[in-house]
Amino acid sequence: MREFKAVVLGAGGVGKSALTVRFVQDVFVETYDPTIEEQYRRAMEVDGQLYSLEVLDTAGAEQFTALNEVYIKSGHGFILVFSLTQETSLREVENLRQQIYRVKGANSNIPIVVVGTKMDLTNEREVHRSTTQQLATRWELPFYETSAKRNWHISEVFEDLVRQMRDR
Ligand code: GTP
Ligand code: MG
Repeated sequence: MREFKAVVLGAGGVGKSALTVRFVQDVFVETYDPTIEEQYRRAMEVDGQLYSLEVLDTAGAEQFTALNEVYIKSGHGFILVFSLTQETSLREVENLRQQIYRVKGANSNIPIVVVGTKMDLTNEREVHRSTTQQLATRWELPFYETSAKRNWHISEVFEDLVRQMRDR
C-alpha cells in the first residue's frame, strides 16, 4: 500500500482540525480547542486503489515559523485552509502557498488543495465564490468549499490530494 503524508496548514480557528477529524473519524468537533500538533492516519480508497494517508494537523500560525518550514519539507501534499467567514484567512493561504513554493521549489509540481471551510454559516460568509474562482484560475489550484459540520465535500478534498500525490 502506498503511503502519503498530507499537511494541513492555515490561520488559527479556520477549521483545520474540524476538517481533519471529520475526514479521519467522521465526527464534527464543535468546541474550539487550539491545536499544538496532531497526527492522524487513515486508509482510503481512491479509484479502486487503497492508500495509507497520514494527516498532520498543525497549529494556526500567522507568521512564517521555523516549524512551518519543517512541516513543508516533511509533506508530500498540502491542504491550505481558510474560512469562508473570514476574508483575512484567505490572505494567510496566499502566504503559505508562497512559503511552500519557496521551500519546495516553484517548478516541482507540488500537490496542493485549497479549502474554504464553514460553508454552512451562510449568513457569516465574507468570501464570495467569484473571489475563490478567480484565485483558483490564477493559482491553477483546485478549490473546495466545505462544511465539516454538515460533512459537505470533505472526502473530495482528500481524494483530490491523493490523486495529485499519486500522479506526480
Ligand atoms: P487552530 O488549531 O487553533 O489553528 O484552529 P483550527 O483551524 O484547527 O480550527 P478548529 O477546527 O478547531 O475550528 C474552530 C471552530 O470553528 C470550532 O468551534 C469548530 O467547531 C468551528 N468549525 C470548524 N469547521 C466548521 C464548519 O464547517 N462549520 C461550522 N459551523 N463550524 C465549524
Ligand atoms: Mg486545530
